[in-house]
Amino acid sequence: MKLVIATNNQHKVNEIKRIVSLNEIELLSLKDLNLNIEIEETEHTLEGNALLKAEKIFKLTNLPTVSDDTGLFVDALNGEPGVFSSRYAGENATYDDNCNKLLSKLISVSAESRNAYFKTVVCLFLKEDGYYFFEGVVKGKVTNEKRGTNGFGYDPIFIPDGYSLTYAEMPTDLKNQISHRAIAFRKLRDFLLSYRK
Ligand code: IMP
Repeated sequence: MKLVIATNNQHKVNEIKRIVSLNEIELLSLKDLNLNIEIEETEHTLEGNALLKAEKIFKLTNLPTVSDDTGLFVDALNGEPGVFSSRYAGENATYDDNCNKLLSKLISVSAESRNAYFKTVVCLFLKEDGYYFFEGVVKGKVTNEKRGTNGFGYDPIFIPDGYSLTYAEMPTDLKNQISHRAIAFRKLRDFLLSYRK
């Protein structure tokens, strides 16, 4: 079975390939298919955006497709930045701009009230009317300042529950083992294992 990964982000492709490596499933990136396409995320939920991307690529390739969408949801901000995580500080915002905006919005929020969670939704689009969602959630806290240089996005300001390091202070392998994305993609892997039987 061929399975297309609907992203242009090579890091994501590598991470997904590491988690979902199964015999009989050939994982193909958009680059492998010479597809040069940018899909705008216009929905207001992670599920909506993941479905939108997977369906679009399925329709172009006629191949089973997976896509994912992730957000950081902060309790004290009623779930902001959530589905708008990548453009929280504006359309062309950098990761640093987004972290700074979040930290400044939380400036008067105490340590106990800085709960947040990362959520990834993966959509597997197998055929028309045949799609599935898998989710991964990691709860934690937002720090007062940026710490660590590994990773990307909000990694320097997020400490997962049960740890004292931010995602950006952890070795990459550890973050990739425990992350919201890893949890969601492991569920996809388990589904594919049972689907093949
Ligand atoms: P995407 O859906 O994977 O593109 O993620 C949307 C945005 O969420 C990214 O631009 C990042 O700002 C943030 N994000 C997603 N995954 C992570 C992560 O593992 N660590 C930190 N930030 C993340």
